[in-house]
Amino acid sequence: MDSIEASDVASIPLEEIDVSRPELFANDTWQPWFERLRKEAPVHYRADSVNGPFWSVSSHALIKEVDTNHKVFSSEKGGIAIADPYVMDESQIQGQSFITLDEPKHMPQRMAVAPTVAPKNLGEFEPLIRERAIDILESLPVGETFNWVQEVSIELTARMLAILFGFPYEERRKLVRWSDLATAVPEVTGDDSIDMNERYEELMGAASAFYQLWTERAKEPPKFDLISMLIHNEETARMNEDPELFLGTILLLIVGGNDTTRNSISGGVLALNKYPDQYQKLRENPGLIPNMVPEIVRWQTPVIHMRRTALQDYELGGQQIKEGDKVVMWYLSGNRDEAVFQDADKLIIDRPNARGHVAFGFGVHRCMGNRLAELQLRVLWEEIMKRFHTVEVVGDVERLPNNFIRGIKDVPVRLHPI
Ligand code: HEM
Repeated sequence: MDSIEASDVASIPLEEIDVSRPELFANDTWQPWFERLRKEAPVHYRADSVNGPFWSVSSHALIKEVDTNHKVFSSEKGGIAIADPYVMDESQIQGQSFITLDEPKHMPQRMAVAPTVAPKNLGEFEPLIRERAIDILESLPVGETFNWVQEVSIELTARMLAILFGFPYEERRKLVRWSDLATAVPEVTGDDSIDMNERYEELMGAASAFYQLWTERAKEPPKFDLISMLIHNEETARMNEDPELFLGTILLLIVGGNDTTRNSISGGVLALNKYPDQYQKLRENPGLIPNMVPEIVRWQTPVIHMRRTALQDYELGGQQIKEGDKVVMWYLSGNRDEAVFQDADKLIIDRPNARGHVAFGFGVHRCMGNRLAELQLRVLWEEIMKRFHTVEVVGDVERLPNNFIRGIKDVPVRLHPI
């Protein structure tokens, strides 16, 4: 499969290239396809695909141009993924969240939840995140082969989400389950075995768990968790009365903070194993961790793309976009753009412009949880480096066939203590 793909890249007519095929991400064979687009057609039209016609924007500069022009490129009109929003039944709650709203509706909602993940609040979270990271690392089976994704990436993110929501700690894996379900749409994952009615029922179970949490938390004095903050903010104090908004906002925060951080944790281990010179550099100078963190996020790019819909005709990179067109910003490609990042495929932990990546997006929708994500990664790597000489990848990596989230399912590792 990989060799056929690789030989096709140079010969296939430009208009036949479809970078949205989920298998490109499952096989990790997307690089040459985007390289060709960046070189020959950084604004590229594909007339048909599983998700209909779409424009691909693949260079760093043009991605920024689209992402910062929210007046022309709407998140609300057609949603944020190449797959159109999944509508089950008009009578069912779809979940409306601010990531899919345009101005002026978007900003007040964002501002209402943003303080939860602002620096002051993160300072409150850090000791707890560290304590839980240490607890995970200390209980790992040294000398045995195990799946890093399950034991560390998922577990740490679940614990962090439980902290963020003030969710019962013993039930934290439910948050992971709901996040997985929220993104389990066949057009995105390429997996059509999921029963969408069962999915809906389970998500309604999530809503009712959060309603219950809301009722309990409302009786308590204000705290630092997200639910408490929503209750005690004028803008959102009655959010629980609007089921669309309530479920949508909660799911956005669970999904936003789950897959993304999880895959950055897994991606960091893969990248350091792929580039042992960088692992060695890190051992010699753990002080590089604060710069390594954005570099890992760039290298991994956990959100592969964001989609916009043009509200008017617009010329982009010499191409004529028409009102109503679907425009996909491929962050993964922007972060490999050699015009911005030298030796872009390589992880370079002291890369001077690591922070210049587009993995968190740009403009009004720029990731709200970016500092929280970086905090988690920094704390985890600080604690890993105190304990382990190497987290060695010892087997085949399994990835997900998903063109939206760059998902890693299995990373077999073995630990080598200091
Ligand atoms: C490495 C980890 C993460 C990555 C790569 C990531 C990536 C992104 C991206 C690409 C966007 C859309 C940006 C745009 O459209 O311009 C976004 C938005 C968002 N992210 Fe993250 N994210 C991460 C972690 C988190 C965490 C931990 C949270 C938890 C609170 C979070 C919450 C959100 C929210 C609420 C939005 C919507 C912002 C808005 O529409 O105004 N993210 N994220």
